[in-house]
Amino acid sequence: MRNVGSVLTVVSLLVITFVSFIVVGCNQKPAQEVAYSPERIEIGEAVVEGWNCSFCHSPQIKGPDGKPIPDPKRFMSGHPADEKIPTVPDMVITSPEWMEFLDNLDSTAWATDNLIVFSANLTPDDDTGIGTWTETEFVETIREGRHRGIERRIKYPMPWQELSELSDEELLSVYEYLMTLSPVSNEVPPSVVLFR
Ligand code: HEC
Repeated sequence: MRNVGSVLTVVSLLVITFVSFIVVGCNQKPAQEVAYSPERIEIGEAVVEGWNCSFCHSPQIKGPDGKPIPDPKRFMSGHPADEKIPTVPDMVITSPEWMEFLDNLDSTAWATDNLIVFSANLTPDDDTGIGTWTETEFVETIREGRHRGIERRIKYPMPWQELSELSDEELLSVYEYLMTLSPVSNEVPPSVVLFR
C-alpha cells in the first residue's frame, strides 16, 4: 500500500508540475513581442557607444580612412569562433613566440594573468548570444560580475565593476538596445588557461 501511495503522490506531483508549466508558459510573452520604447533604445545605444563596448565585443575591420572600425556584419558578436586560437609553446611567457602572440591578439581576445579571455557575443542570437537571456539575467550579470548573474565569474578586462554603477534604467536600456541588433551566430570559445 505504501508503494501505491508513493506512486500516486509522484503521479499527482507530475500532473501539478505539468499543469503549472502550461499555465506559466501561457502567461509568458515571447521576447519578440515585448514593445521596447524608442527612448530606452536610444539611451542604450548611447551607453554602448560611450563605453566603447563594440571595441571589445566586435571584430574590427579597416574603415574608410584606414582606421579600425567594428565590422558592421558582426557587430557585438564577440570573438570570432573561426579565428585560430593561438597556443604558446611550453607556455614560456618571455619567448619570442609569446611576444608575437601577444602582439597579434585583437581587441576581442585579452591576455590576463594566466588566461586568454574572449569577448562575449552580445547579439540576440538564441544559441550563441543573449537571445534567451531575460532582462534580469542581463542586469545581474553586470551587477554581480557573473555569467547570467549566478554562474562563473566574468574576468578582466570586462569592466563590470564600473558598469555595475549604472542605474537599472541604463542597464535595462542597454539590454533593450542589444535586443534590437541583428542576431549573429558565433559561438565564442571558452577562455584558455595558459599555465597553472
Ligand atoms: C575592454 C574590453 C571590454 C569592454 C570595453 C566591454 N567588455 Fe564586455 N566583456 C569583455 C570580455 C573579454 C568578456 C568575457 C570575459 C570572460 O570570459 O570572463 C566580456 C563579457 C561581457 C558580458 C558577459 C557575457 C556572458 O556570457 O557572461 C557582458 C554581458 C558584457 N561583456 C557586456 C558589456 C557591455 C554592455 C559593455 C559596454 C557597456 C562591455 N561589455 C564592454 C570585454 C569588454
